[in-house]
Amino acid sequence: MTGRTPAGPRGRPRLVLATRNPGKVREITAIYAGLAARLSGLEDWPAIGELPEDGDTYAENAASKALAVARATGLPALADDSGVEIDALGGGPGVRSRRLLGEAASDADRNTYVLEQLAGFPPPRRTARYRAVVALATPNGRVQTFEGVCEGAIAERPRGTGGFGYDPIFEITGDGRTMAEVPPEVKNEISHRARALRAARSAVARALSGEGQEGLGTGANSAEVSPSGGKDA
Ligand code: IMP
Repeated sequence: MTGRTPAGPRGRPRLVLATRNPGKVREITAIYAGLAARLSGLEDWPAIGELPEDGDTYAENAASKALAVARATGLPALADDSGVEIDALGGGPGVRSRRLLGEAASDADRNTYVLEQLAGFPPPRRTARYRAVVALATPNGRVQTFEGVCEGAIAERPRGTGGFGYDPIFEITGDGRTMAEVPPEVKNEISHRARALRAARSAVARALSGEGQEGLGTGANSAEVSPSGGKDA
């Protein structure tokens, strides 16, 4: 779909979330509660195909997804990319977290692999962090990125049933529980994605008000990225 549609049926400006994951739509909607906007995922735009995530940085992936969706819909769009960085694995799998062990592997396979790689490592050598980059794009091609980090350590074994991905083996620094052991409201408060989304919130509000369409400002926790990706956030 093309053409600018600045407001939804009830007159609220629209923000498109570049995801088909209903969990992500729920999480972002909760974090942006109070923002006078109508948020929707890509289910309203079935013509938009797969959004590739094959860049070398989170910022590159988030920016290219946000930009593709802003251009296709004519509306401001928000995208994210994230991963887990394990110090003992040289910061890996990082931007390749989802692709670790290939498309056919499950979350459990990836967690087993990571635990095997770290077998016998004492706690000080098990440090890790989740990192997320959120990109906000406007239809005129401007992109701004925001980063959030959540520090942790790789547990000795999986614990908990909540969350997804690496959560059962990701122990939260200063808490001791894994991310799969805490309730969703706690995760939504402390997660890398929540932090990146909160950092983006005022820029999102400005973009929705139509301000800065010719150039979004760059805040302390943000970076401007060229449409092709370019700058890492
Ligand atoms: P994406 O940003 O949705 O593409 O996620 C990248 C990958 O990083 C996910 O598939 C997970 O493997 C991992 N990841 C990112 N955020 C989280 C999280 O909050 N919990 C667990 N794993 C995560």
